[in-house]
Amino acid sequence: MSTYVVVGLQFGDEGKGKITDVLSAKSDFVVRYQGGNNAGHTVYAGEDKFVLHLLPSGVLQSKGKCIIGSGVVVNPQSFLDEVEKLESRGLSSKNIFIDRRAHIIMPYHIQLDHYREEAAGKDSIGTTKRGIGPCYEDKVARVGIRAIDLLNPQVLAEKLKINLEIKNALFEKLYDKPALDYDEIYNNYIEYGEKIKHRIIDAVVEVNDAIDEGKTVLFEGAQALMLDIDYGTYPFVTSSSPSTGGVCVGAGIPPTKLENLIGVSKAYCTRVGNGPFPTEQDNEIGEQIREVGNEYGASTGRPRRCGWLDLVALKHACRIDGITHLVITKLDVLSGFETIKVCTAYKTEDNEIKQNFTASTTKLDDYEPIYEELPGWKGDICGISRFEELPKEAQDYIHFIEEYLGIEIYLVSVGPDRSQNIIRKELF
Ligand code: GDP
Ligand code: IMO
Ligand code: MG
Repeated sequence: MSTYVVVGLQFGDEGKGKITDVLSAKSDFVVRYQGGNNAGHTVYAGEDKFVLHLLPSGVLQSKGKCIIGSGVVVNPQSFLDEVEKLESRGLSSKNIFIDRRAHIIMPYHIQLDHYREEAAGKDSIGTTKRGIGPCYEDKVARVGIRAIDLLNPQVLAEKLKINLEIKNALFEKLYDKPALDYDEIYNNYIEYGEKIKHRIIDAVVEVNDAIDEGKTVLFEGAQALMLDIDYGTYPFVTSSSPSTGGVCVGAGIPPTKLENLIGVSKAYCTRVGNGPFPTEQDNEIGEQIREVGNEYGASTGRPRRCGWLDLVALKHACRIDGITHLVITKLDVLSGFETIKVCTAYKTEDNEIKQNFTASTTKLDDYEPIYEELPGWKGDICGISRFEELPKEAQDYIHFIEEYLGIEIYLVSVGPDRSQNIIRKELF
């Protein structure tokens, strides 16, 4: 048995896609277990750039199956578009499958996401407007439409009728928007079912069997712990569980089968969308990070908010995720700063020192980060592949993070390309 889980530890966009791509070259299965096409995972392979939203980032290199697990919410049009894009670039899609239990994003989910965000104005969450939240809501409300339902016209017709009646009432009466047309949706979704039926499988059996047979299975998280529905900065979160624990519910894998829990964090911090961000640098420091790090959303193109690394938040994430191996990405982006700040605690309005993350989003807004200031380094580190060759200050920065968290950093990423890595210890 050998299982690996890759998760984000901050607010998303840590470089999970790149790390999954690197590890997938040696994996038999790559499995997504939550989120949907709100994700944007960028992989550079030489001159080629790939951005994956719904498909596992393993599709580029894995020789085995790439599975969209039951915990993922699937937009069928987005799925077909991505598959087509992959094929148009000469890559095979024959190993891509969807669990029959995965919930399907319907047009009314996307509309509802738009209308709600619009109505919330300045209090909006800043969602990707892909219908992710409304789809998960229907799943929990036990009225959702699942992949398997697309293959049964009668079931689809009944479920769609019930759902659309309620959603159309909301649209017309609450939001003063037009109702959606039943026939159009029904026909489109029956067609989607036809197009994807050969890819709909029982992934729970496939993946558990693979693990039992000693195959290497990699689980790829989308979003990140600080966007987790339970442990993130609620309500400014996504609607799923991007934690390592999410693998168990989102792929039907028992906790006893999870071994290597790999957490990915940038060397600094970014956030796209609204919500608290204690170490945000809404100034020239943030600007420099954004421009050097090319911090613009892969899904929505929005500029990412940028700031210093927050070790209090990172410790919170590592604790919940039980991280066994840490990856630090984008260390190259910090080259050139005279000094680098790292948040190691927060100070409350009453001058109390907090070492742990808080559940209260409003309090978090008022907390002042306490920083350690470390010496920076100069020069391009993008071509370095041995840790000892990094400037001493960069090595010290990595050691500082390791010591604070008490977790080994096994890989330091120094550029977007799949080859730009300092691997301190081979995982497999
Ligand atoms: P994900 O959502 O966690 O997969 O991350 P994204 O792909 O949304 O965002 C990470 C961005 O940083 C992508 O554009 C990557 O190509 C890029 N990237 C990843 N690792 C590094 C790195 O070490 N250095 C630099 N400069 N860019 C990186
Ligand atoms: P990857 O996998 C960064 C953010 C949105 C918004 C909040 C809720 O690329 O790291 P949603 O559409 O999920 O209801 O939006 O979550 N968000 C992300 N931020 N990276 C992502 O994915 C994200 N997916 C969602 O900006 O603040
Ligand atoms: Mg991303």
